[in-house]
Amino acid sequence: MKIAFASDHAGVGLKAELIGLASTLGHEVVDLGPTTTQSVDYPDFAEKACLAITGGQAELGVLICGTGQGMNITANKVRGIRAALCHTEFEARMARAHNDANVLCLGQRVTGPGLAAELLTCFLATAFEGGRHAARVAKITAVEARR
Ligand code: RB5
Repeated sequence: MKIAFASDHAGVGLKAELIGLASTLGHEVVDLGPTTTQSVDYPDFAEKACLAITGGQAELGVLICGTGQGMNITANKVRGIRAALCHTEFEARMARAHNDANVLCLGQRVTGPGLAAELLTCFLATAFEGGRHAARVAKITAVEARR
């Protein structure tokens, strides 16, 4: 799969580690920045990665800031994005299987690198189940269309 990664200054280190992991797992990765820990604003990078997904340049995204909250809030403002802030493998699996999440949000100041690697591995390995969940996801899209 092609995966877009972005962070803010508080997520640069974990982003680099997870890009390495995703590449090792055989995925094609695109790093949308930043490349240094100089202070930046997370909405700018969240938007970049989300537009890469909605524009068809990537299938999934990984967004990392200090807590993951700012990335998650911003990403879910973009039409067509279903972002999930995950702290447990169960959440990462269910976000894909039931919600067809297309962005995984993580907080580098909250989640250690080992757990983050497990969360990403789980997120990437899980397919959307469809069925009754497809109708619910379609309702999310309908909510977007009404706004
Ligand atoms: C940056 O200090 C911090 O506010 C940001 O990384 C993120 O945690 C916001 O949600």
